[in-house]
Amino acid sequence: MAKILLTGGAGYIGSHTYLALVEAGFDVVILDNFSNAKLDVPNRLQNIVGDSVTVVNGDVLDRGVLDALFADHKIDGVVHFAALKAVGESVEKPLDYMHTNVGGLLNLLAAMDAAGVRRIVFSSSATVYGDTDVQPIPEDHPRTYTSPYAFTKIAGEQILEQLTDDWAVGILRYFNPVGAHKSAMIGEDPSDIPNNLVPYIAKVATGDLEQLGVFGDDYETPDGTGVRDYIHVEDLADGHVLSLKSLIETGNSHTVNLGTGEGSSVLDMVRSYSKACGRELPYQIKPRRDGDVAVLTARPEKAKVELGFEATRSLADMCRSSWAWVSGQIRNDRD
Ligand code: UFG
Repeated sequence: MAKILLTGGAGYIGSHTYLALVEAGFDVVILDNFSNAKLDVPNRLQNIVGDSVTVVNGDVLDRGVLDALFADHKIDGVVHFAALKAVGESVEKPLDYMHTNVGGLLNLLAAMDAAGVRRIVFSSSATVYGDTDVQPIPEDHPRTYTSPYAFTKIAGEQILEQLTDDWAVGILRYFNPVGAHKSAMIGEDPSDIPNNLVPYIAKVATGDLEQLGVFGDDYETPDGTGVRDYIHVEDLADGHVLSLKSLIETGNSHTVNLGTGEGSSVLDMVRSYSKACGRELPYQIKPRRDGDVAVLTARPEKAKVELGFEATRSLADMCRSSWAWVSGQIRNDRD
């Protein structure tokens, strides 16, 4: 059974990928510094899989932690999630983003190389395409950055592209991951006021926030609001399993979009979430948000051809699973 290291494995996408990997028969070790993950996530994972979860509490910037981990476990491949991910914050703190996202990757690669582990799946983002009218976006679209965060994702891809032929690299460009695990025991759990659409709507649905601000209704889209390619986090997690399997089986590298190819507007999401939670969620039209683009959708075919990946879960599934997760949390808090 192949053994996989998940850096950032207690985070939102990491924890869902943990479950998908275990379900697919992989042995998994999590490395996380819990800077943006709750300490009870490993327990929750343990309850879902009914088996112990191996977690190392440490930082990808700590070479000693990485060397000890590779010495203690015979790792066959790494999925590297551990990174900072807020676009706005990256403008305020560009050096933090370079340090964690680029420095962390370099430190990890050096430790992997020393341990002879040369398979890595890298969390990239549709943000590497910048602001483009080409929609849906194919993988060979030129990369350009519009924020320090995007810069770090492009830099990460470029560093990985310079590695020698004995490395196998999977670069996965996520579109907009949303939703929660079918168990409703893990999901996205931002501690501050959310920046992203679905976590914000979820807090309106629970009553923690009064109403959603819709950032602009004058875009050139069918209803005037921004259109994105939302992908269920469980589909995204399955994409990582397929990426790793491909690296192990073929030894060939790949760069693919992980999206559905379908665009949904902000108002589509409000309607779908309202249906999931059983009440009309209030919203107010606000000015456009700086840096937002009108439309961002994936050409999903390359992931299908190269990995056999296809997203299967609908917008309704995304909203229902998110609501099951956040409404379950309210019940837990009350108990
Ligand atoms: N939106 C609102 N109100 C909100 C939040 C968002 O109307 O309170 C709208 C946005 O204007 C946009 C859509 O909802 O039209 C989606 O916004 P998100 O903030 O959820 O997601 P983004 O597409 O802006 O950003 C996401 C990731 C980034 C990544 C980017 C490009 O959060 O990390 O996709 O891949 F860089």
